[in-house]
Amino acid sequence: MNIGVPREIKPGEQRIALTPAGARALTEAGHRVVVEQGAGAGSGIRDEEYTAVGAGLAAVDEVWRRADLVLKVKEPLAPEVARLRDGQVLFTYLHLAPAPELTRALRDSDVIAVAYETVQRPDGSLPLLTPMSEVAGRLAVQEGAFYLGRAHGGRGILLGGVPGVPPGNVAVIGAGTVGLNAVRMAVGLGADVSILDVNPDRLRAVDDLYHGRVVTIMSNAFNLQAVVRRADLLIGAVLITGARAPVLVTSAMVATMKEGAVIVDVAVDQGGSVETIKPTTLLDPTYVVSGVVHYGVANMPALVPRTSTFALANATLPYVLDLANRGPREAVRANPALARGVNVWRGRVVHPAVASSLGETPAALDAVA
Ligand SMILES: NC(=O)c1ccc[n+]([C@@H]2O[C@H](COP(=O)([O-])OP(=O)(O)OC[C@H]3O[C@@H](n4cnc5c(N)ncnc54)[C@H](O)[C@@H]3O)[C@@H](O)[C@H]2O)c1
Repeated sequence: MNIGVPREIKPGEQRIALTPAGARALTEAGHRVVVEQGAGAGSGIRDEEYTAVGAGLAAVDEVWRRADLVLKVKEPLAPEVARLRDGQVLFTYLHLAPAPELTRALRDSDVIAVAYETVQRPDGSLPLLTPMSEVAGRLAVQEGAFYLGRAHGGRGILLGGVPGVPPGNVAVIGAGTVGLNAVRMAVGLGADVSILDVNPDRLRAVDDLYHGRVVTIMSNAFNLQAVVRRADLLIGAVLITGARAPVLVTSAMVATMKEGAVIVDVAVDQGGSVETIKPTTLLDPTYVVSGVVHYGVANMPALVPRTSTFALANATLPYVLDLANRGPREAVRANPALARGVNVWRGRVVHPAVASSLGETPAALDAVA
């Protein structure tokens, strides 16, 4: 199969969909890989690293023209949509539910569009979203620690404390992927760490892992009020799958926080779990409400594109190999997780949530593939 990897053109996007390790695996399996010149630069990967493993380099037109399978990171923008051709397979993050125009464009261009974010294992897990949650969770503590610095608007607290001075308090709301990764970093820094969830099994898992080193607390309004008041760094990490994040921390609770405390609401991409949070960008990540520094970056992994590229590509590669080795029709028949990833199949919208955002009934994949 001809596999094309264009450079991402969405402003600020520095990741690339394939690493040299992936290019090598594909060429060894007998496929032809063509990477757009300079596409890896934002992630610190040089063109020669791709050619060294047998991939070709080409200008953007050539990459799109030749590819049977296009590997990307972000949804295609208008100039990219214009390049799609009949029968091409597009494998990338799509987030189509809130983007009916793009859904129609993909349907009209007769492609097979497979979305990273809807690839789902039978146990319900989302293997191509997890790595970005891992990055964001770890980064939440690193960024929070930075903004606690006095010169960065914070309280002037070193999270680990020093002998004779107590550590800072980190409170994490939500013990999923983001929350557990945040806890891991906060513990590593020597902070005093609490975590809240509504699911006692999640709290049990944390308790087993950290043997009491991390305080686990049932998430409810009463407990949140006390936890929020005490926190130096508050991290929002909740998710209700497919829904807006619940607003758990009210502006009245924020008003009780210490001057210079920091809130990193990772759930801001789903509307946020703190009433006073709004989306910000990496160029201007924070603002202050009630004396509390608010960090609302909706695309945190973009701050560390190199790590994010390798994390994402590690997770996508098995599916890429499946698509390339078996061809799309066989691959989705054999791999139910990949089948859940199919949003549009040659003119038919097959993913239920995406179809309902157009007010349509989804086509059955079995019937159209
Ligand atoms: N800002 C970014 O750059 C970025 C990057 C990656 C992920 N995210 C977002 O981070 C959020 C968390 O993602 P995840 O992968 O950790 O999800 P997850 O499903 O693994 O975990 C969510 C957790 O929230 C818990 N929860 C639900 N309601 C709660 C409540 N009322 N109180 C306490 N906990 C509650 C759930 O029980 C679950 O354990 C999502 O909104 C995701 O989109 C943002």
